[in-house]
Amino acid sequence: MLEALPTARDHPLDPPTELRRLSAEEPLCRLLYPDGHVGWVVTSYELARCVLGDQRFSSRSELLRSAVHPTRIAEVERGESAPAGFFAIMDPPEHTKYRRLLTGHFTVRRMNALRPTIEQIVESRLQVLAETGPPADLVPSFALPVPSLAICALLGVPADERGVFERYGSLLNSLEVDAAEIKSGMTAMSDCLKGLIGQRRRRPSDDLLSALAREDDLSEDQTAGIAMLILVAGHDTTASMLALGTLVFLLHPEHAEALREGEASAERAVEEMLRYLTIVQYGLPRTAVEDVELAGELIRAGETVTVSLPAANRDSTRFPEPDQVDLSRTTPGHLGFGYGLHQCLGQHLARLEMQIAFSMLLRRFPTLELAVPLAEIPLRRQHMIYGVERLPVRW
Ligand code: HEM
Repeated sequence: MLEALPTARDHPLDPPTELRRLSAEEPLCRLLYPDGHVGWVVTSYELARCVLGDQRFSSRSELLRSAVHPTRIAEVERGESAPAGFFAIMDPPEHTKYRRLLTGHFTVRRMNALRPTIEQIVESRLQVLAETGPPADLVPSFALPVPSLAICALLGVPADERGVFERYGSLLNSLEVDAAEIKSGMTAMSDCLKGLIGQRRRRPSDDLLSALAREDDLSEDQTAGIAMLILVAGHDTTASMLALGTLVFLLHPEHAEALREGEASAERAVEEMLRYLTIVQYGLPRTAVEDVELAGELIRAGETVTVSLPAANRDSTRFPEPDQVDLSRTTPGHLGFGYGLHQCLGQHLARLEMQIAFSMLLRRFPTLELAVPLAEIPLRRQHMIYGVERLPVRW
């Protein structure tokens, strides 16, 4: 049995070596959770899909345990029910109700209609960079504002009110904050959103908040909760991918060149970055609601299984040469956005933002390079979402 989830990385861009060993030798392994529970961890691609695709494994917040924190599960304390509208930690039928309401707003077509807006957002950030640098820290100047402005545009949150979401959004995924800070962050965001929802009820516009405000079946708390979940789930994640993905391009100038020259497709490059980097670094918890037999073991009702997405996405039985960044890789089905009922709602938006941002950044600054050695770039360890704290560059 593992005494704790392995979290130490030998290389900043590779998952912990111990998880890789397990994936090959013992892909379903007993794990002692920080709260004393004896549950499981899954590290192979095949078993990860089995668990995430099986509704006998629940996402209900009341049943979940974290593999890296003794009391916190995502935005809630262990055992607490999900805040109104936070359908990511609910099961059907509640989850289905919310998901149905939102799916139509996140289709590829809807997201493609946002392309000009996202291009304009990226262009304006590049312009600021060109005027103020070199050098520059790409995290605050590019990676954080681009997704923040994009989700605000989608929802209809005025750009000058985004500060509160940027400040608290990342906090909710941190392992270092206490319950009181989480609660006050959630309240601040919810209050701000309720004010905006009230405005949209009086004066509707062509944005997602207005569409949600029109739903008679939703309470104000539920509407604000949905909007908050979208902001929280979509900002920090995409920001981390933008910074880490840029780091990969700077460490591999040949890939940057291929994308810049159009020899590599931006679509494929983004899929490979999502697989290679798998930023949901401590995986996804699920709890069995009945006894389940899996890979010859009996998982008892009430036991939590943590699915290690980073290990599954480096499983060599699915992805040949998994540690290589291969922009022409064609193996589909990486688990960077999860799998099954809860697979990322905002994945088409995230893809579009990354495709546009990487291509425009590398073309605008063809000589872009790291301003410090890799070893000096501070990494995010005490956080559910992997990333870099700073990305100093020059050109
Ligand atoms: C590269 C960026 C992103 C990554 C890596 C990512 C990753 C994920 C993962 C792994 C899940 C599954 C969670 C689970 O099964 O428990 C998820 C769910 C979710 N994501 Fe994303 N995400 C990203 C961007 C976004 C964006 C841009 C939005 C919205 C604008 C978004 C909204 C959501 C929502 C609402 C859920 C919950 C879906 C459900 O429970 O049905 N995400 N995301």
